[in-house]
Amino acid sequence: MPLLEGKKALIFGVANHRSIGWAIAQSLAAEGAQIMLAYQDRMEKYVRELATKIPNTSVVQCDVQQDDQLDAAFAEAGKIFNGELDILIHSVAYAPPSELENPFTDTTRAGFHTALDISAYSLIAMAKRAKPLMQAKGGNMLTLTYMASERVMPKYNVMAVAKAALECSVRYLAFELGEYNIRVNAISAGPLNTLAARGVSGFTSFREQMGQVAPLRRNIEQSEVGDAALFLCGPHARAITGEIMFVDAGYNIMGA
Ligand SMILES: NC(=O)c1ccc[n+]([C@@H]2O[C@H](COP(=O)([O-])OP(=O)(O)OC[C@H]3O[C@@H](n4cnc5c(N)ncnc54)[C@H](O)[C@@H]3O)[C@@H](O)[C@H]2O)c1
Repeated sequence: MPLLEGKKALIFGVANHRSIGWAIAQSLAAEGAQIMLAYQDRMEKYVRELATKIPNTSVVQCDVQQDDQLDAAFAEAGKIFNGELDILIHSVAYAPPSELENPFTDTTRAGFHTALDISAYSLIAMAKRAKPLMQAKGGNMLTLTYMASERVMPKYNVMAVAKAALECSVRYLAFELGEYNIRVNAISAGPLNTLAARGVSGFTSFREQMGQVAPLRRNIEQSEVGDAALFLCGPHARAITGEIMFVDAGYNIMGA
């Protein structure tokens, strides 16, 4: 039997075919999960097209900064999934471009709020709304983070602060939701060529450097993050929660 037969997954953060969220959707669907994609308004065209590639996939529009849109998206998921949700994927991040170009010391109050709101608070806002749909049978929540939360990656700036807040939120959510058998984890992915990553200057050269230095002597691909997500959201990871798992060809262990 497929690993996720009968499981229902709501995925936030698909923008196009390069999105990590899309790779995760494909990995989960390949093991039998039913998928719903929540998209940001401006991505509608691409997401509706992608959704046709996985049978029985539905879509819902949601700006994660808007509480009423989050309420509506989870209400729609509850309707489509008959009041149950097994898997929540949070693959969303944003910082205003100027915050990733200017010196970190020049981070603005408004830029800080926006980055932390969209990239970190949104996980808490989603968890609150997913809990009622998950708590009867347990479930899985998974988010995407980056190593810049712990080590300085020049130009990642306020997004690194947001990732640190996101990782801390994973631990607090894992603690609170554990009694309902709801697991909460994060994947810390190596650099991948996506819309969000292209907003960080120096990204391409860093990806090249990582491919040479990482123990596996190569970069990673979106599908490898998708398969790690399948593991973390599936039965084989049933005792894992509050974990930040690196999927980066081992790059994070290197000191030089
Ligand atoms: N690409 C990488 O190298 C890399 C590495 C580690 C972690 N990540 C993380 O993976 C996640 C997915 O990013 P990606 O690389 O697939 O890029 P992406 O651009 O494909 O995905 C980012 C998504 O965030 C969504 N988003 C932004 N603001 C939103 C809002 N207000 N409301 C709703 N959705 C909003 C965008 O629509 C988009 O779908 C992000 O958290 C990112 O930080 C990426």
